[in-house]
Amino acid sequence: MTDTAVASVDNESDVPTLEFDGSTPYDDYVQASVLTSLQHPLSNDPGEMAFLVTTQVMELWFTLVVHEWDTAREALLKDDFERAMEALRRSLSSHQALNDSWRPIAALTPAQFNGFRSAFGQASGFQSAMYRRIEFLLGDKSRSMIQPHRGHPRVHAELQEALTQPSLYDEVLHYLSRRGLPVPQHVLERDVTVAYEPDAGVEEVWRQIYAGPQSSPLVALGEALTNVGEMVLRWRSDHLLATRRAMGSKVGSGGSPGVAWLEKRAARSVFPEIWTARSYV
Ligand code: HEM
Repeated sequence: MTDTAVASVDNESDVPTLEFDGSTPYDDYVQASVLTSLQHPLSNDPGEMAFLVTTQVMELWFTLVVHEWDTAREALLKDDFERAMEALRRSLSSHQALNDSWRPIAALTPAQFNGFRSAFGQASGFQSAMYRRIEFLLGDKSRSMIQPHRGHPRVHAELQEALTQPSLYDEVLHYLSRRGLPVPQHVLERDVTVAYEPDAGVEEVWRQIYAGPQSSPLVALGEALTNVGEMVLRWRSDHLLATRRAMGSKVGSGGSPGVAWLEKRAARSVFPEIWTARSYV
């Protein structure tokens, strides 16, 4: 170490601020002391902490993804295309981080999972309200899916609002219609509280967009949505693989048949016509 470096380490004016009245500004902003006091494993198994923290981290990523897709949805509603695209692009980085979060629990053996499985009883990711909002934004609406949350009025109200609002995909289709594309009227007027069903007219809209100039902003929108869809399918697929490794074909803690049920859920398309239109370009 040079004399100058020693002097600089020893110089107290270079040290970050050490004195605060009350809590640190960092904790006031990040709420780290709250976040890091929310881990309450229910077993003595040392592996449960990785399962609990991974699940909590994923809830935070769900929250960020919902925030970005809500921003994109509202921007499209106001015809603010650039703001919508920025939010969609940011959501891809967040969703990548969400998908990367599987690592600590991606390869649990059945015996390792059994070490804490019974401790959390009927708890299941199926009861995640934030994940439900993700699915609602994609267009996969279901009134019955908000039923488990009746006991939590704030969460239930947020889900109820998300159920009755047009999804991100609904707003995309309204936007395309305002840009002069022939989105069928019955799709624009659909009951947004039920799951979106693929439509031949919408497939034709995406076909026209993709068959046109590749520099079109609407191709960029289609590709951003395709990337979103791919991220979602990859999350579902990694969840399915982690589940198959950890518990084979046992029934789920939430009461479903487990892997067999998740296989069907994972196979659902995201923004279906963006994929099927490709066959005709
Ligand atoms: C190895 C660990 C895991 C296993 C064995 C597992 C197992 C399951 C099973 C069997 C289901 C079906 C519902 C049920 O009967 O419980 C399910 C659903 C679900 N899990 Fe997991 N899970 C794991 C990790 C996670 C993590 C870390 C999350 C993150 C929050 C998560 C989120 C979900 C969600 C959102 C659903 C509902 C999916 C849907 O509605 O389509 N799971 N899980």
